[in-house]
Amino acid sequence: MARNRRSIDKAAIEHHYDLSNEFYELFLDPWMLYTCAYYRTPDGDLEQAQLDKMDLVCRKLRLRRGERLLDIGCGWGSLALWAAKHYGVEAFGVTLSAEQARYARAWIEREGLADVCRVEHRDYRDVDREDPFDKIAAIGIIEHVGVANYPAYFAEVRDLLKPGGLFLNHGITRHRHWRWTPQWQFLIENVFPNGELMHVSYINERMEEQDLEIIDVESLRGHYARTCRHWAERLRSNEKHAIELVGERAYRTWLLYLTSSSVNFEEGSINLYQTLASRPDPATRTVPTTREELYTVDRSAARLRALA
Ligand SMILES: C[S@@+](CC[C@H](N)C(=O)[O-])C[C@H]1O[C@@H](n2cnc3c(N)ncnc32)[C@H](O)[C@@H]1O
Repeated sequence: MARNRRSIDKAAIEHHYDLSNEFYELFLDPWMLYTCAYYRTPDGDLEQAQLDKMDLVCRKLRLRRGERLLDIGCGWGSLALWAAKHYGVEAFGVTLSAEQARYARAWIEREGLADVCRVEHRDYRDVDREDPFDKIAAIGIIEHVGVANYPAYFAEVRDLLKPGGLFLNHGITRHRHWRWTPQWQFLIENVFPNGELMHVSYINERMEEQDLEIIDVESLRGHYARTCRHWAERLRSNEKHAIELVGERAYRTWLLYLTSSSVNFEEGSINLYQTLASRPDPATRTVPTTREELYTVDRSAARLRALA
């Protein structure tokens, strides 16, 4: 059964992410982030908002020089690279997409960061538990995990984390009263085979059951509506090239998915939550006590652009 689930997951990820790196470059930002951005101003652009998102994630995880970071579902390697480059951590990312892993490795080589940053084409269930991490980011993977697998997944995360370590789950959720619709059926069949959403309270409860202590929960729903709108606009402005790469059917399907997702975030049937949790350490109380340090560092656009 477990083996079967793995091959289903692999086929689903290949269907979505191995479409072609070049196709995703047509609508994502230059850092190739494929999750909700963080707009610090209402008129902010996508590029800036994605840099702000990566930095927010690193600050929520309180990354410190020399720590080991695991990025589960690392996409094209952006957060792992950002954290290694700007926070001095040793970053390890895993993705189930061979195309993404190939892209990430070439990028890491170009940046000369191969000694501190590594990305592998690997299922998160195959990460070595014998060598736990200080911090774990899971940005946009819970949607692929499957509701029935939440207990095993969060147990895995806990075991991969050192006592006192922090875990950030950033994922799409559905409203409690959400109902199955033909539109959703279309998206699952054509865009996200095997994708599954749950409401935030359910997810957080499964986390708590696996001894992960919840510290902070933040909704970024409005941010995701804007991100999807930006992606759809960029894809549409590259229509000809996109059709050459993936064909008209896939182009139109992706445009519909990005546009309808923006509307769904806007009206609230789906949401995006960042939940920060820790693996309690019986010896010390290491959890952050305030949000102060998230907002006291220099978060200026000029600083982030200089880092990028
Ligand atoms: C929506 S993307 C998010 C990518 C990246 N974190 C970002 O913020 O741009 C989801 C990622 O989860 C990965 N993924 C899904 N299931 C996985 C699994 N079982 N093991 C490892 N990675 C997985 C996919 O390959 C993909 O890289």
